[in-house]
Amino acid sequence: MKLICANFKMNLLENDVLNYLKKINNKINKKNTIFFPSIPYIKLFSNKNYQVGSQDISFLEFGSITGDISVNQLIELGITYTLVGHFERRKYFDDDKYISKKVKLALKKNIKVILCIGESMKSSDEEIYNFLKDEINEALENNLDLIKNDNLIIAYEPIWSIGSKVIPDNNYLINTISFIKDYIKNTYQKDIKVLYGGSVNLENIDILEKIKKIDGYLIGGTSLNYEDFLALTKKIK
Ligand code: 13P
Repeated sequence: MKLICANFKMNLLENDVLNYLKKINNKINKKNTIFFPSIPYIKLFSNKNYQVGSQDISFLEFGSITGDISVNQLIELGITYTLVGHFERRKYFDDDKYISKKVKLALKKNIKVILCIGESMKSSDEEIYNFLKDEINEALENNLDLIKNDNLIIAYEPIWSIGSKVIPDNNYLINTISFIKDYIKNTYQKDIKVLYGGSVNLENIDILEKIKKIDGYLIGGTSLNYEDFLALTKKIK
């Protein structure tokens, strides 16, 4: 069963979320769907027994970091997953520096990590693979003893595809996702699931579904509208 992850980013207000929850009631497979709403609304999902995650966590467990949120506080709200290293966190918050610490802290607390990686533009295969290797090594090499039983998943999101309505062609995706899986297997002896993220929508999902190597999706814009999201989930096998 593929994982379906809905990343709301900084969208929707409380009334929108309440309405969303009403409309999706009994229409979502709770086993393979995980919602990543904004922090104030996490509890609205966990109270209804949806699987819910945080879009980020602090790299520190406690301390004086104004504006940050601790994994312990998020656990109290009901999260069982967190994204780490989403492109938008790397871009606006210098997240590259903290990836390894965030992965370690989440895994220690038994929170599953969806590690986001992806290159910034279509360059040579070698450049793309080297870039992805660096992002993988940064997150994994100091945390190997903590990675087990699917508690770390990769979301491959080419930056140029996020919010652009453009997705990579199937060969590009097959090659890149194979590279990620093979590299992690050969270097770290771990079998890691890889999700695809970036402009997943109702027009392209049938094309993406042809790629057997994709283990699920991280969906931004299309997850914000409950009708589109429900229609999308029906097409994912
Ligand atoms: P879009 O689906 O809006 O392109 O966003 C992708 C994304 O960043 C999910 O984390």
